[in-house]
Amino acid sequence: MKIAMITGASRGIGLAIAKQLYNDGCAVSIMDLADAETAQRDLQNAGIAPDRMLYRKGDITVAADRADFLAQTVATFGRVDILVNNAGVAPRVRNDLLDMTEESFDFVVGVNVKGNLGMTQTVAKQMIAQAPVNGRKGVIVNISSCSAYTSSTNRGEYCVSKAGVSMLTKLFADRLADEQINVFEVRPGIIATPMTAGVKEKYDRLILQEGVLPIRRWGQPEDVANCVSLLCDERMAYCTGDVLNADGGFHIQRL
Ligand SMILES: NC(=O)c1ccc[n+]([C@@H]2O[C@H](COP(=O)([O-])OP(=O)(O)OC[C@H]3O[C@@H](n4cnc5c(N)ncnc54)[C@H](O)[C@@H]3O)[C@@H](O)[C@H]2O)c1
Repeated sequence: MKIAMITGASRGIGLAIAKQLYNDGCAVSIMDLADAETAQRDLQNAGIAPDRMLYRKGDITVAADRADFLAQTVATFGRVDILVNNAGVAPRVRNDLLDMTEESFDFVVGVNVKGNLGMTQTVAKQMIAQAPVNGRKGVIVNISSCSAYTSSTNRGEYCVSKAGVSMLTKLFADRLADEQINVFEVRPGIIATPMTAGVKEKYDRLILQEGVLPIRRWGQPEDVANCVSLLCDERMAYCTGDVLNADGGFHIQRL
């Protein structure tokens, strides 16, 4: 049985990833800010049985939480095969680039880039120390965004942070290749989750009326989870540093 650590999986895309990896046969270990009782109930309602699940309330930006998340996972399941860096935040307020506050920049980049970096450092060291299984010590998947390359001037800090996640993917894919660890990136487009609930009307218009996506529908959390599952497959062993766009074709430049 493979062991998957997933951040931010009490709801939205992370919850769908936890469910998919669980259905693929993994034990899932989750850290999120959400209260443990509620999160565990939601995870169980999603069909994840308690004997193959660990939930720890914690913050990816806090080093002690990251270390304890790993320690608890290893104490319970013995090793870590998969890390999915999914936890992420949008700015609390959308502000024009000229008025972006330092506080908002630090918050968004702190969680999305520094938190992701810290989690990867923590877990990669554990993976390196493990014996390989079928020639691999682990797989790391970062959830970035189409904002990694798309300008939105009213949430520039988010775009900067996701471009940072893309560079982290490249850096760790390079650094960890010799350690038999593959690193990938999934770039979601517009996905129906609590994060996008506040801008539903805008995206309904863009997707359904204006055809901004070649595939004219909202992405679902399961669309992203399926991509993560594919990248974790052992048949991807000779690939690293690759990006999979889970975006209905949004990345295609069109005339
Ligand atoms: N929804 C979209 O359209 C979309 C598009 C592109 C990328 N993404 C990315 O996908 C990921 C998941 O997004 P979502 O839409 O499911 O968002 P969401 O807000 O619904 O869920 C994010 C989860 O991460 C957790 N989290 C936030 N900060 C954390 C921290 N410091 N430590 C631990 N957990 C933390 C939250 O509690 C929440 O459960 C994010 O990285 C997001 O940037 C989302």
